[in-house]
Amino acid sequence: MIPYKHEPFTDFTKEENKAAYLEGLKTVEGYLGKEYPIIVGGERIFTEDKTRSYNPSNVEETVGLVSKANKEHAEKAMEAAKEAFKTWRDTDPSVRADVLFRAAAITRRRKHEFSALLSKEGGKPWKEADADTAEAIDFMEYYARQMLELKDGKKIESRPGEYNKFNYLPIGVSVVISPWNFAFAIMAGTTVAPVVTGNTVLLKPSSKTPVIAYKFMEVLEEAGLPKGVVNYIPGSSSEIGDFLIDHKDTSLISFTGSRDVGVSIYERAAKVHKGQNHLKRVIAEMGGKDTIVVDSEGDLDLAADSIVQSAFGFSGQKCSACSRVIAVESVYDELLEKVVERTEKLTVGDSTDHENYMGPVIDENSLNKIKKYIEIGKKEGRIVAGGTTDEEKGHFVHPTVIADLKHNDRVMQEEIFGPVVGFSKAKDYDEALEFANDTDYGLTGAVISNNREKLEQARRNFLVGNLYFNRGCTGAIVGYQPFGGFKMSGTDSKAGGPDYLVLHLQGRTTSEML
Ligand code: SER
Repeated sequence: MIPYKHEPFTDFTKEENKAAYLEGLKTVEGYLGKEYPIIVGGERIFTEDKTRSYNPSNVEETVGLVSKANKEHAEKAMEAAKEAFKTWRDTDPSVRADVLFRAAAITRRRKHEFSALLSKEGGKPWKEADADTAEAIDFMEYYARQMLELKDGKKIESRPGEYNKFNYLPIGVSVVISPWNFAFAIMAGTTVAPVVTGNTVLLKPSSKTPVIAYKFMEVLEEAGLPKGVVNYIPGSSSEIGDFLIDHKDTSLISFTGSRDVGVSIYERAAKVHKGQNHLKRVIAEMGGKDTIVVDSEGDLDLAADSIVQSAFGFSGQKCSACSRVIAVESVYDELLEKVVERTEKLTVGDSTDHENYMGPVIDENSLNKIKKYIEIGKKEGRIVAGGTTDEEKGHFVHPTVIADLKHNDRVMQEEIFGPVVGFSKAKDYDEALEFANDTDYGLTGAVISNNREKLEQARRNFLVGNLYFNRGCTGAIVGYQPFGGFKMSGTDSKAGGPDYLVLHLQGRTTSEML
């Protein structure tokens, strides 16, 4: 077995790599506007009611017309998943892992097609799309290996005359509700984790990015996944989401998305329905309001680079994105100047154009929400970069820096999910950490400082699931930086980490008298 290593990022300064992406783009352009069915128990069903998935860089361009599952389809998918579970749960775990290894290999061969599709459907610039595809591959490679480590259970003790064993069993049907912001990586990761552990899946991808999920279904089928193990059922939350969350036969709900929806799922899942004979598990990865703390003993160029990259990469639409900067008074002005200078150089435009650092935001609702917060920011603080939009062809927001906020202002507390970063001052490092912790969220955070004691103080007291020193706060890598947050950021399930798969399993002890 080749040891796990994360998928390398593509160097797009090389002409052959540029050409490979453009070739992928050509493939994607060849199927734009196509109609897609739902997939239930391997059967493809076209429905009347469709979601129009479009390109947020160019709203006129249809990426696909995707069939929507209704309640009957969802019930049918549940039946298919229950049926498939009967054999999948007993399938040798190493065979299940092989499906993931093959799916990773197929994805790798179609890598640039997937990245180009992420640019079209998700508005991701090349570099971000490439990282999303790489992460999808990593999840498959990593979870497959993790399953091989778990397949024989874990060592426990036995007394003389007794033989004890501890191993893991799958739990049943998983409802996977995946987001648009890592339309490939998180969708694939949250799908293959239950699959490799022997569960079956009802996959409800984001209605903003259903085509990528459909293409992933093709990959899984080609990799030899039996019918019914993953059922593809895009549809609305009110029609099928709630129905499946409440369903008596749902064992696990794996959700990534907004705090409001996550909290509602958590509450609903707690209710035991008629005929239900188990408690449901919930994995919820929700929002963030992630802070970079800049200390007086930090490298300010490094700080500015880290802030700009973490705040504006993928237009700030990562739950890990930096949306708050807390800088110690003595360096605040100089840091702000450096960040503004860098921000003003960023290019914004069509995400399939390699020249653009930033693409659009995902849709009109999102654009309007960001505009609302920019207005709030004008009152609470001072706009020092950006603050404007371009809505002619797509949903573009210019990277925006808001200065002189109080750490508890709305712009510094509420998740905006766009290219907006707020700055607050703290009188010293202790206060900076205190302000950093003063949010409902606890996903990522970073500290820029060359003082070892201060870093250790943050390690103890800065309460976030992913804490970074002297770097930005985005870009966790599968198998290297397990990802998940504290507080209202979610269940801290640590995707891409060694504890993740067991969340999809139940431990079983057998004890035999010899
Ligand atoms: N895992 C991503 C990151 O670290 C966010 O979902 O940026």
